[in-house]
Amino acid sequence: MSIPDPLIVSRLRAAGCVFAEDETGLLMSTARTPAELDAMVDRRAAGLPLEQVLGWAEFCGLRIIVAPGVFVPRRRTEFLVRQAAALARPGDVIVDLCCGAGAIGAALGAAVDRAEVHAADIDPAAVRCARRNVSGPWGHVYLGNLYEPLPGRLRGRVGVLVANVPYVPTGEIGFLPPEARTHEPRVALDGGEDGLDVLRQVAAGAPEWLAPGGHLLIETSERQAPSAQAAFIASGLSARVHSSADLDATVVVGHLRPESPGD
Ligand SMILES: C[S@@+](CC[C@H](N)C(=O)[O-])C[C@H]1O[C@@H](n2cnc3c(N)ncnc32)[C@H](O)[C@@H]1O
Repeated sequence: MSIPDPLIVSRLRAAGCVFAEDETGLLMSTARTPAELDAMVDRRAAGLPLEQVLGWAEFCGLRIIVAPGVFVPRRRTEFLVRQAAALARPGDVIVDLCCGAGAIGAALGAAVDRAEVHAADIDPAAVRCARRNVSGPWGHVYLGNLYEPLPGRLRGRVGVLVANVPYVPTGEIGFLPPEARTHEPRVALDGGEDGLDVLRQVAAGAPEWLAPGGHLLIETSERQAPSAQAAFIASGLSARVHSSADLDATVVVGHLRPESPGD
């Protein structure tokens, strides 16, 4: 990486960027021309998330393409990927619902031998990114509401269903950092009154799509975990909560018992 230009560092620092030196290095190594670098520094100083300015986010060792206005994959979500990869078997059908830029699906496609990955999101801008990130012959990306756009042939065949749904309670959106509040779409953040509206819908639909013995994994917060777990159980899945203190991450892992009525 180039030596960070001190003028850019001080501009970013004045704009409130805590890691101004690191960010300057990344911007300098990503821009292809001085004019492009100027434009990128302007956008970052104006408050756009660094990843939207760079055009990519690092996630599970991959560069995930992220366009302006699309949710930036968070490092904490790598914990969900790790849990899912440990449960997946070679050749599994993997579904990434609410896929955003497709970071989880792309990481699982890279981690799981011969996986067939299907990713879907309701936001056209996110789907445009996901089509570029979940792009191997193993990857399929759809636009639409939750399960609606998935091909019917996947019913009862999904080995691992993952979802990082919006889970911020509506009343707490205003407390998010400005980068999220202003530059990520509301549909990516707002999980309804208690933050669990979308999670409940995903859990309710899961037994129809999971293969017998299949797993559902959804990221949530520590505070929401007991209610999220109850939603999994209400839908007929067994459910456990897994947490990582290092990544400040919580995931509910559900299991469809082979003998359950959803078989
Ligand atoms: C928190 S973001 C997570 C994105 C991605 N999974 C990740 O971890 O980077 C939630 C995503 O859910 C999508 N979403 C919200 N409601 C949805 C719905 N009803 N059907 C499909 N996608 C939805 C949003 O567009 C957004 O991309």
